[in-house]
Amino acid sequence: MNILLVGGGAREHTIAWKLRQSPRVDELLVAPGNAGTARIARNLPQTKANDLEGIVQATREHKIDLVVVGPEEPLVLGLVDRLAAEGITAFGSSKAASHLEGSKAFCKELCQRYGIPHARGASFTSRDDARSYLKEFDQVPVVKASGLAAGKGAIICETQEEALQTIDRMINEGAFGEAGRTVVIEERLSGREISVFAFADGRTVVPMVPACDYKRVFDGDEGPNTGGMGSFSQPAWYDAALAETIRTRILEPAVRGMEAEGRPYRGVLYGGLMVTDDGPKVLEFNCRFGDPEAQVTLPRLKSDLADILWAVATNSLHEVDVQWSDQACVGVVMASGGYPGEYDTGFPIAGLGRVEEDALVFHAGTRLDEEGGVVTSGGRVLTVAALGASLNEARGKAYRNIQHIHFSRCHYRRDIAAPSQGAVGE
Ligand code: AMP
Ligand code: GLY
Repeated sequence: MNILLVGGGAREHTIAWKLRQSPRVDELLVAPGNAGTARIARNLPQTKANDLEGIVQATREHKIDLVVVGPEEPLVLGLVDRLAAEGITAFGSSKAASHLEGSKAFCKELCQRYGIPHARGASFTSRDDARSYLKEFDQVPVVKASGLAAGKGAIICETQEEALQTIDRMINEGAFGEAGRTVVIEERLSGREISVFAFADGRTVVPMVPACDYKRVFDGDEGPNTGGMGSFSQPAWYDAALAETIRTRILEPAVRGMEAEGRPYRGVLYGGLMVTDDGPKVLEFNCRFGDPEAQVTLPRLKSDLADILWAVATNSLHEVDVQWSDQACVGVVMASGGYPGEYDTGFPIAGLGRVEEDALVFHAGTRLDEEGGVVTSGGRVLTVAALGASLNEARGKAYRNIQHIHFSRCHYRRDIAAPSQGAVGE
């Protein structure tokens, strides 16, 4: 089978690495890819992930049997529908189904309509309506841009005044562009946050192992939000009873609800949840693997990823046995100095050849220079991940290997999966 993988982050490098382990995969192309995927697949650097026509053309040129879509943007733009119209099999949610991530307002309506536990709230396009609702709300809420905002659209307000200002900035001043013209106002939940995932083929739902993500840029959860600075799979407190509640009360009802809405859900269903004293509640749904969660969940997959993705894309997921290892996995993101704000790129990355053989280095913002050396080209540069018998062991190995890798102005968090972060033993 020839596969074209769309995307160029560490999530896509991880998917490519896993697909390479499949005897079913012949050609593997990545559009656009990065310096990491260049080693194990053929990059199409000119074909960007949002270039729908370029991707369709590449599938013809390279006799592609399956397209696998990594990031949300091409999904929300309708890449999978465009490919289906050309008779090309694709793994990923349709435009209609991706609305679940593309509109937090729709996500909340779905939860309300199908009794899925979620952060209580409502959505508004009118500033005045939003302000009236806020005045009646019994607490200082979280205000969110409804549309895609690269993980930066949720504002945890500290005062009512801040909430009012945030609404003004989003609806009136267009601070988040079109994404913020509709705002979601919701209760602030406290508890333990977890990212859960399931494969879904429209009907069958197969949960994956979960992961915790570290969104803030600095140790101790300080500083601004990022795309994710590290993650681990999985916390000790994620027990069988919680997994069962999440499957039966959140993941399955969401897929059934989407079917009832006429938006059959095929692809990865990703729930961003808060596990509260009243049980798990949905903060958001996404329509793809998480990044950096994929870097710590897919290494635990024992089954053939190509088999699974093909089965999802062809509505035969019930025929596939999906097995996970009990090992722990920890991934630490190495980022460019300045990220998530302004940063420079083009710095040579040294020491990639010195990491231990079974440590996992997944590239994100990297490219090859004229001499074939690897240089930085983005904010999040690499995820260094490791499997281990325990979180402790996996964390030790990930941090041991990070020491070998250097680039100018690199920074990373020191506390990924650290016991102080609630990772171990709780
Ligand atoms: P989102 O853009 O919805 O993923 O939100 C980004 C982050 O903000 C989440 O990972 C949470 O840590 C936090 N957050 C979002 N919504 C809420 C909420 N209702 N209550 C508490 N924290 C939240
Ligand atoms: N790690 C957060 C995300 O992928 O959206």
